[in-house]
Amino acid sequence: MVNRSFPFFVAQCVAILLAIASKGQALTDAISPRTPSSTFKTIHGVKRVFCLSDLHTDHVENMEWLRQNVAASDLCQDDLLIVAGDISHESRRLQESLRLLRQACQIFFLPGNHEAWIGRHDKFESSFDKLYRVERTCRMHGVHVDPLFLDGNSPLWVVPLQSWYDGTLSFNEELCKDFGAFPWVDFIRCRWSPHDFPPMSKPNKRIPEGLVEYFHDTYNTPILWNILSSQTALHRNQKSALLTVSHFLPNKQCLPDWNDLEADENDFSMTWLNHGAGEMSAKFAKVAGSKKLDDQLRSLSGHFSRHVHVFGHSHRPKDFEYRGVRYIHNPLGKPRERTLHMVNPNVTFQCIWNVEEQGEISGPTVLRYWEQFGGGTEALRDRLKEVKGGRYSRSSDTKNSSQSTVY
Ligand SMILES: [Fe+2]
Repeated sequence: MVNRSFPFFVAQCVAILLAIASKGQALTDAISPRTPSSTFKTIHGVKRVFCLSDLHTDHVENMEWLRQNVAASDLCQDDLLIVAGDISHESRRLQESLRLLRQACQIFFLPGNHEAWIGRHDKFESSFDKLYRVERTCRMHGVHVDPLFLDGNSPLWVVPLQSWYDGTLSFNEELCKDFGAFPWVDFIRCRWSPHDFPPMSKPNKRIPEGLVEYFHDTYNTPILWNILSSQTALHRNQKSALLTVSHFLPNKQCLPDWNDLEADENDFSMTWLNHGAGEMSAKFAKVAGSKKLDDQLRSLSGHFSRHVHVFGHSHRPKDFEYRGVRYIHNPLGKPRERTLHMVNPNVTFQCIWNVEEQGEISGPTVLRYWEQFGGGTEALRDRLKEVKGGRYSRSSDTKNSSQSTVY
């Protein structure tokens, strides 16, 4: 048996030195001393890896969905469920959800924008403080937040990538003329230092400048260096696969309406906005993610036998291969979105990897769920008539903001 202790030690030392030398460290010192660990944990015995995102359990129906689906599933402690952000902004709901999930299986959680929300009665100075509290809550419940190496016949790295949005996925400025008035709740409930992250000017008014770079440089770069040096030290002959996880979207192809993987990045067809909410789609694209995230995650692809990227945030299911990377979004979404079949009404935990056996679990290509599996435009119109004015329960803290919550 190969003694892995020494190469592991060397790899981690190299990574720590590189991380200290990086630009990210200087930013960390200047803004916040709190960053998650860039070191990874090796886990033996995990058999299956699942994914789900956007649980939004502050909706009563979603918490009930979680209870019922955990009880009905065959998840066990040999399974790992990746949750790609947006469980709830409420600490109580987040803890209740994590507890429920943790009883069923191992959990890996990467926070989303909703976890960065600060409530009216919260005492957090900034959304960084709120995210730090979320991280502590996860650790308290035995939920993984640091990178993992799942050892087995089909070994897999699980790598969290923190990010935000910066308007770089925008596809039509004409439809975004009044973006400054877009009722995006993050603009009210997330708090970043205006000195360090001033609002962008037009056309991306109100998006914090530099936040994407901060998350990438400070959180992700040390992790990527560490994973890469460890992969090089340990697996020269047997390449492992890579599973990166982000809450935000890394490219335009992941946008809800993108309908043709052959189309160039700048080639958004306006005929794809055939669902009657084109303006909303265009504005959402500005707060969907960042193409810098794709650059960062793809910087590792060539060192691994396979690269799968799991993301959240858009509440529009996706599963497709694009230029050598498979992108998967499996959201629970909001009750109304399931009723409209914008999200799979029978959504469940999606199995994506078998560590003990063949590795990747493939599935049908999903570019636009509502069109491919939900009956298309006519069926959507009919369902919209049925659910118009429908009421969905949500906890009291968000009553005012829920009407203006777009995603
Ligand atoms: Fe989100």
